[in-house]
Amino acid sequence: PNFICFCSSVFTTDLEWISKVRVNTQAVLKRAQFIQRQKIPKKQWQAAWLLKAVTLIDLTTLAGDDTSSNVHRLCLKAVQPVRYDLLKKIDMHDKGVTTAAVCVYPSRVTDAVRSLKAANSSLPVASVATGFPAGQTPLETRLQEVRIAVSDGATEIDIVINRMLAITGQWEAMYNEIRQFREACGPAHMKTILAVGELGSFTNVYRASMVAMMAGSDFIKTSTGKEAVNATYPVAIVMVRAIRDYFMSTGHKVGFKPAGGIRTAEESLVWLTLIKEELGDDWLCPGLFRLGASSLLADIERQIYHQVTGQYAAYHDLPMA
Ligand SMILES: *[C@@H]1O[C@H](CO)[C@@H](O)[C@H](O)[C@H]1NC(C)=O
Ligand SMILES: *[C@@H]1O[C@H](CO)[C@@H](O)[C@H](O)[C@H]1NC(C)=O
Repeated sequence: PNFICFCSSVFTTDLEWISKVRVNTQAVLKRAQFIQRQKIPKKQWQAAWLLKAVTLIDLTTLAGDDTSSNVHRLCLKAVQPVRYDLLKKIDMHDKGVTTAAVCVYPSRVTDAVRSLKAANSSLPVASVATGFPAGQTPLETRLQEVRIAVSDGATEIDIVINRMLAITGQWEAMYNEIRQFREACGPAHMKTILAVGELGSFTNVYRASMVAMMAGSDFIKTSTGKEAVNATYPVAIVMVRAIRDYFMSTGHKVGFKPAGGIRTAEESLVWLTLIKEELGDDWLCPGLFRLGASSLLADIERQIYHQVTGQYAAYHDLPMA
């Protein structure tokens, strides 16, 4: 039984039904509690499962003081996210373990592209765009930002939606904007950030998710990491149910990216469990699931160190980006 009042037979490409869809808040909260109470199986703490999480990370730096040198270090870390000797001990040293992508501001894209090229890596560079994080710049500026990031070599663009349009229920206008971003992205993958902490209700999150998918997003993403409320499990349930409903109606798989405040290995395992439970194993690949994070990798690497050596690492043992 689908707890969201949404029947696939009414699904059409016209947006009218969007404003009629409602989400059952209690059911969402209950499901999120259930997921969080799931005991993470001991075997999932093993290095293989943690490594899986590593391969799903968009390793991110989005700070005002980003420079070419810290972007360079980030890229090296993304290419070699776990110490070589640790990987060798679990026979994973020649499996090409990297993070899924690096994610930077538009003006740092050329730095990241250059660093990855120097490291002979084909890792994708993702860039936030469209007036990140608030999205409060003129449409033409936001479109231009996307085009520039793509021409500088970003192959993934994380756009932010115009929250004003979502909050005031202007779904058609939001759809039209996202269509234009889609076009500006060209061949680049588009991840659409809903900034769920600012959307007010689960119903709005569901509606915004649907509109973003209908307008051609390859991924929907929870947060910029700059809102007061980041990726929470209940909101994630709403978004992944929207992804499931969209898949059921269209046969098209859209990816999911939680981001903002994800810091511990344990949290990353809860996220993997949530995806496994809600969308199935198909979604546990970089093409359909990403964890947006900066400090998460350090904690996962510490856990892998512990799994492999039976000891806890001192911070200097595992240099971070
Ligand atoms: C990259 O590849 C080139 C040519 O194959 C090689 O000469 C160079 O040493 C490689 N650089 C790195 C950092 O692996
Ligand atoms: C949201 O994420 C950002 C970036 O990781 C973090 O600085 C902030 O403290 C988080 N906020 C909450 C309420 O967790």
